[in-house]
Amino acid sequence: MNYKKNHFFIENISSEKIAEKFATPIYCYSYKILKTNIKNFKRNFKTIKPTICFAVKSNTNLNLLREIKKFGLGADVVSMGEMMIAKKAGISSKKIVFSGVGKTKKEINYAIEKNILLINAESKSEIILIEKIAKYKKKKVNIGIRLNPNTNPKTLDQISTGKKENKFGVSENTFLELVNYIKNSSYLNLKCLSVHIGSQILSHKPYEKMLKVLDKIIKKSNHNFEFLDLGGGMGIPYENKFKKLNYKKYSSAINRLLKKHKSKIIFEPGRSIVGNAGFLITKVLYIKEAQNKSFVILDAGMNDMMRPALYGVKHKIVPSIKSKNYSKKTYEFVGPICETTDKFSTLSKFQKLNENDIIIICDTGAYGVSLSSNYNVRPKPPELLIKGSKINVIKRREKLEDLI
Ligand code: LLP
Repeated sequence: MNYKKNHFFIENISSEKIAEKFATPIYCYSYKILKTNIKNFKRNFKTIKPTICFAVKSNTNLNLLREIKKFGLGADVVSMGEMMIAKKAGISSKKIVFSGVGKTKKEINYAIEKNILLINAESKSEIILIEKIAKYKKKKVNIGIRLNPNTNPKTLDQISTGKKENKFGVSENTFLELVNYIKNSSYLNLKCLSVHIGSQILSHKPYEKMLKVLDKIIKKSNHNFEFLDLGGGMGIPYENKFKKLNYKKYSSAINRLLKKHKSKIIFEPGRSIVGNAGFLITKVLYIKEAQNKSFVILDAGMNDMMRPALYGVKHKIVPSIKSKNYSKKTYEFVGPICETTDKFSTLSKFQKLNENDIIIICDTGAYGVSLSSNYNVRPKPPELLIKGSKINVIKRREKLEDLI
């Protein structure tokens, strides 16, 4: 952990200093961790030399995206808004892929106008609509078809996307039918087979299974796909007991597939790039005694960080100043929101806390701000990017006037 003499630091700045200067709750990102994650991701797949399209949904901060772009990453987007943010961050259209089951006519129009690398289509109706728009614009449009490989990603049900009961992609039979349809189209160019089986995946085995399905279907389709877009989903260890994803085995399995089918690989990672680079700094407002436990009421709530309330998952919670004086009672860390699910964690072994203490909720760089809301008319926290001893405010705190 990032303690220096018992004080929690993000790079060279202590968390209390940030809280004091900018107030709480506040999101901070470490540039160094972001950079390391990107370097590691590239190194893990260095034999594959993939095009890495950052999943913008995981963190939509424009300035952070500008930094990510500087490392050569493209963008995986799922809406017109995300496409516009990616463009504004300076990401070249040649590195933008567009996924999603419900693309509107307006969004498809925009994607075609911007000449993005790929529209990854998810149904026959969508393909027919893309073709119609392409014909109207007298353009040949590059598309991918998203396959639903019916592979269990062994992650939370709520973030599984590659099982047959999930709404994403098309079945093998539909895939083959669509390959033939597109081959005969004058306005569509079938460039890619795309998949994304789920998120927060910590075992390489589901990926191996998915690649076997790909091998079979590529053979059956008798088509040369210039790209295989394998999506994202690489998980991170939110809790110490989690084991890490074996990138070596995943990469080897991809290399085996590439020996049989010559294609370029695209990845769409989100969490593995930004997840552990983000910290939510929050203050203890009140400590309320209850039977057998104390409620630690924080100034950050489920509207600021929704993952625990939405999925029942835990994020590490750490104090800004470490002490050896443990609380005798169990602490239930909750937010101020009027919902019972506004709860971050229940910990039986934690140091004794006082009101006004600062604590940090870790690994909140992915799906933290991007899933946040203004529920209870609460302005969203500011976002800081920390580079060594420098603090850049990359998003200001929302004001009540913005909301009212
Ligand atoms: N590509 C597609 C088509 C996706 O749907 C997603 C995530 C990604 C890439 C990026 O996946 P990642 O590498 O970040 O796992 N809100 C949830 C996660 C939902 C992910 C949705 N799709 C959470 O907080 O865990």
